[in-house]
Amino acid sequence: MDYLMGLLEGKNILSMGVRNKWSIAWGISEKALKEGANLIFTCQSEREKEETICLLEGYGKQQIYICDVTSDQDLDELFNNIKSKYETLDGVIHSIAYAKPQDMQNSFINTSRDGFIHSLNISTYSLIAVSQRAKELMSEGGSIITLTFIGAKRVINGYNMMGVAKAALEASVIYLASDLGPLGIRVNAISAGAIKTASAKGVKSFISLNDTIKEKVPLKRGITLEDIGKSAIYLLSGLSSGVTGEILHVDCGYNIRGI
Ligand SMILES: NC(=O)c1ccc[n+]([C@@H]2O[C@H](COP(=O)([O-])OP(=O)(O)OC[C@H]3O[C@@H](n4cnc5c(N)ncnc54)[C@H](O)[C@@H]3O)[C@@H](O)[C@H]2O)c1
Repeated sequence: MDYLMGLLEGKNILSMGVRNKWSIAWGISEKALKEGANLIFTCQSEREKEETICLLEGYGKQQIYICDVTSDQDLDELFNNIKSKYETLDGVIHSIAYAKPQDMQNSFINTSRDGFIHSLNISTYSLIAVSQRAKELMSEGGSIITLTFIGAKRVINGYNMMGVAKAALEASVIYLASDLGPLGIRVNAISAGAIKTASAKGVKSFISLNDTIKEKVPLKRGITLEDIGKSAIYLLSGLSSGVTGEILHVDCGYNIRGI
């Protein structure tokens, strides 16, 4: 395997959220593997696990666990397994979100109580639940990253419930960064530009957003997995040693635009 700069040489990094080759978690994980990290993957289902095994061909044997982040039992088992196999953890890639299709398709005002709670549980609380357990294994400090979107701050048609979940996620990032900072654990988010993934298909406006965005953004192009992966390596590695509680926009400058 070609090592680039070895920025994550020997680091144990938990990657949560690979569904397929288009997943942002895969874009980041592939870069982390090339930087010398040992990756521990979690997938939500057996099907995703099979997909991840295929993606990992040529990258040596990496651990893959099934973990539904709404289950404390799954999370406890996962971290017990990591503790017994690796003892310590240096980084976490949290790249997980979900909202019920009806809560993305209807007007936001019609969001159901059940849909609201379900989305916050998976998309937001999971970062807290994972951080609680990861901190126990980060005796030497560490870096936790998550993924957010500009829809946390501005109205993006069809993003609805997910925008509220991302706003809560961004708030969670700063509170977690404050709690975990004294332990040398940094917590940051990447606010990624719109990119075609399985989850993005659930947001109707993303298709047109992808097409119109290129003319509007300063860099005059769409964001790529490569862009997100490289910024994630910065946040996971010592290159960002003084950075915590940050929402880093990796969106070709989309967030600075007015009308
Ligand atoms: N695609 C975009 O344009 C975009 C932009 C900004 C931020 N994001 C964020 O990036 C992250 C990754 O999304 P993606 O676009 O790569 O899509 P994706 O569908 O490839 O990844 C989403 C992952 O969440 C996992 N997941 C959902 N419910 C789960 C549960 N209960 N337990 C465990 N895992 C669960 C899925 O299995 C999947 O692996 C999400 O947080 C998303 O909101 C995406």
